[in-house]
Amino acid sequence: MSLISETEAWRTLNHLQSQMRGVSLHDLFRTAPERSVSYALAVDDLYIDFSRQRLNDDVLTALLQLAETADVQGFLQRMVRGDVINSSEGRAVLHTQSRGTASGHPALAKETADADQRLQSFTDAVHIGKIRSATGQPFRHVVAIGIGGSELGPALALDALRDGVTRKLDVRVLGNIDGIAFKRAFDGLDPSDTLVVVISKSFTTPETATNADLARLWMQHGIGDKWADNFAVVSANIAAASKFGVTAERVFPMWDWVGGRYSLWSEVGLPVALAFGWSVFCEIRDGARAMDKHVLEAPLRENAAAILALLMVWNASFLGYAAEACVPYDTRLALLVDHLQQLEMESNGKRVTLAGEAVDFATQPVVFGGVGVNVQHAFFQQLHQGTTSAPLDILLPATAPTGDSAVHEQLVAAALAQVDALAFGRENLDEPHRHYPGNRPSTLIVYKDLRPAVFGKLVALYEHKTAIAGAVWGINSFDQWGVELGKVLSREIAPMLADPTTATSSLAPVIGAIRRMQKP
Ligand code: F6P
Repeated sequence: MSLISETEAWRTLNHLQSQMRGVSLHDLFRTAPERSVSYALAVDDLYIDFSRQRLNDDVLTALLQLAETADVQGFLQRMVRGDVINSSEGRAVLHTQSRGTASGHPALAKETADADQRLQSFTDAVHIGKIRSATGQPFRHVVAIGIGGSELGPALALDALRDGVTRKLDVRVLGNIDGIAFKRAFDGLDPSDTLVVVISKSFTTPETATNADLARLWMQHGIGDKWADNFAVVSANIAAASKFGVTAERVFPMWDWVGGRYSLWSEVGLPVALAFGWSVFCEIRDGARAMDKHVLEAPLRENAAAILALLMVWNASFLGYAAEACVPYDTRLALLVDHLQQLEMESNGKRVTLAGEAVDFATQPVVFGGVGVNVQHAFFQQLHQGTTSAPLDILLPATAPTGDSAVHEQLVAAALAQVDALAFGRENLDEPHRHYPGNRPSTLIVYKDLRPAVFGKLVALYEHKTAIAGAVWGINSFDQWGVELGKVLSREIAPMLADPTTATSSLAPVIGAIRRMQKP
């Protein structure tokens, strides 16, 4: 299999890229003012305006040609059909199945439906007090322990929906092993009315194992031998979960065909269902399924995920942007940045193709970001006037989350001001420090409100964007071998900490310094 960069479509884009370098967004809007309409897509209650991206019709046509060449639509069909597209791990990629987008998998559909049935019964029973703590008290608090994909999706959903949906239980999330995270997660909690949910696909992730052990001790200390009554587990490794001590009816399955960073819709969403109720969890899935339908059926030019993916490919591989920013003008989506960092960078931060050949182009840009307007007063200075900049996605709710429309108008004005300032700048040749060069690309993603279904749509949109970009680049968006080396080394370094005389010459000095600082 050859590199995508050897194709005619790539060569055309390379040629266009050198032409576009001399063209500003100012020029593009002057010569084609209709682009503010034609470079926009309305998908249900989302409106995506990509007119401030540095491209014209020739580039867009060539990008669509590139997607055709990479057989993006065939790739999507192979994904939902359950082909083993994650070849390095020999796995199918069927996270869409867990939100009901299936393409002829009756056996899987039955398996997921059975698991959902169990998950719903458990969730409902906890809510109505039928399932109670070992002490007989109804559960009031939940601590969900997991990391990476087993943490970030649920954490995002919990934070995004907590202002608009009534919470049935207080649900906290714990990932880090720095001690403080554990302290904060369990702060003020009473073991007698706390449920601990351990989420780990592999059930071998050391951080999760450490926190799960600490939580078990905390629970044993509080309620004694019946600690397991106050635990539930979501895992693909049922054997390890039962070895941990949790009974089979408290273990909810995960499947090897759901990747961690794509797993919010699977049983990994248990903390979300516990927080807001089963029906809300289903609404999130419904939204994601609606996005699946759009992405699977819409032609590429009208396909929101394909367009976002192609814009990223254009910006990263051709225009040379090494970073992209995600800026929701919505406090509820603050954790979207963390989620996208894992989703996009763990998926597409790769340097070889599926066939193992090194690529000769840039792939995934660094994802960073934060909540607008706050970040206008932080890193936006560099985006406006720095020597390097980054394309950004600005996410904006059309309606005021709290009903205060006067304040919301200010927020909308701020977001629109930024995209225009970045795109068009303002000339001031007399005062160079006040000169704004412009030509800095952005995409506006407007949504009516952040109902659970809209939230599901947005997250699924980014999942598909990620997978499509990976398909264009010809890389495997579903493995994560890069993170393995750190895990291996961490196991090798542990004995060096115990016996510093065995430390490598690169680590010995810093281990010595740590030991000196640890002395009272
Ligand atoms: O960071 C690597 C990773 O494997 C992620 O892909 C995954 O989401 C996370 O660790 C947690 O893994 P697990 O769910 O198996 O504990």
